[in-house]
Amino acid sequence: MNKPLLIGPFAQLLPMTGLPLKGTLKDEQLRIVENGGILVSEGKILKVGVFNELKSDDVDIHHIEGNHVCLPGFVDSHTHICFGGTRARDYAYRNAGKTYLEIAKAGGGIWDTVTQTRKASQQELVEGILSRSKKHLKNGVTTIEVKSGYGLSVDEELKMLRAIKQANEDTNASLIPTCLAAHMKPKDWNKDEGYLDTIINELFPIIKTENLANRIDAFVEESAFSTEEIKPYFQKAKEMGFDITVHADQFTTGGSQVAVDFDAVSADHLEASTEKEIQLLAKSNTIATALPGASIGLGCAYTPARKILDAGGALSIASDHNPGSAPMGDLLTQASILGTFEKLSNTEVLAGITFRAAAALRLEDRGKLETGAVADFIIFPTDNYQEITYHQGQLKPSDVWKKGINVCK
Ligand code: NIG
Ligand code: FE
Repeated sequence: MNKPLLIGPFAQLLPMTGLPLKGTLKDEQLRIVENGGILVSEGKILKVGVFNELKSDDVDIHHIEGNHVCLPGFVDSHTHICFGGTRARDYAYRNAGKTYLEIAKAGGGIWDTVTQTRKASQQELVEGILSRSKKHLKNGVTTIEVKSGYGLSVDEELKMLRAIKQANEDTNASLIPTCLAAHMKPKDWNKDEGYLDTIINELFPIIKTENLANRIDAFVEESAFSTEEIKPYFQKAKEMGFDITVHADQFTTGGSQVAVDFDAVSADHLEASTEKEIQLLAKSNTIATALPGASIGLGCAYTPARKILDAGGALSIASDHNPGSAPMGDLLTQASILGTFEKLSNTEVLAGITFRAAAALRLEDRGKLETGAVADFIIFPTDNYQEITYHQGQLKPSDVWKKGINVCK
């Protein structure tokens, strides 16, 4: 058996441990290990501590030259990186003042991507996912949630979910699949009322049999599915043992109430949430997920992240990387900018893309550097962690370690 590997020393190591899942976080609460090291064996963390104290004849050493800050690999808890084509037209439409609905009528919007994704083969979708995950990985994102939702028929949703599963085998990142068959009502479905029934009766069982996803999502919105329409879909998903997550309160409220009623793991977007929804989420087990990339992409308000944290809520921050509303896909840039607009502490921003994001995916083995966790960690070339958010994503990791292996040399 190989000896455990000690990696370090790091000027600062941020384990992101000892912090609560919910509520405000001050930078004084952030634990910083100076001259830190990580001891790794078989893809897992054996120990985190002071480098010199972890040294012994029983370990191999990977020496890090110069000053660096080490923290858990970032977790992006909400993306749509499985898609075909582009939506470059939408940018010009939006800036010319067209609304979401007008863009959809002009041939843009989600349906445009559905059309282009249906034309793509499973292999082409796999290649798209792989190139986007590679970029995420280089930026320090080691776990990426990926939704379907541009297929909108049993066969096309299956093509997407199988592409995500296939891509997961070929990327160093961990891809966490989610079925978003309720992204919008398919325009070519002539029996409107039967669409969700077909998804429930035909798609959900295959997802279980082929082990394609553990999570079910829906876009609860006037332009997609109403709070009433979506209930049987979530009801069935829950009965079948899926985790629930909801695209909620993006333009109008209602989705977060559905999320809390179904004890969803997360309610995402929340740009339109009012005091009522903020209180509701804060008192629940549902994690609020801000998607600043969609606010930047659409020119809309940010999720009220400050108010959510002050009310005692748990806040994850995700990229929503998709071809329409959030084509940038740079999690650290977006989280740093959200921090500026919403007056978040560094610790709140970093928690939102590490352990709180992992909790939004119900993953307990990452987002923190502690004994037993997956050895996913990233290293920035600086001696001060504050430089990371300060540079708004322009300071890039010099190394990304996934399951104890340096994957971005
Ligand atoms: O999360 N809001 C709904 N769905 C996506 C947008 C997808 C798209 O525009 O293609 C979102 O922003
Ligand atoms: Fe989304």
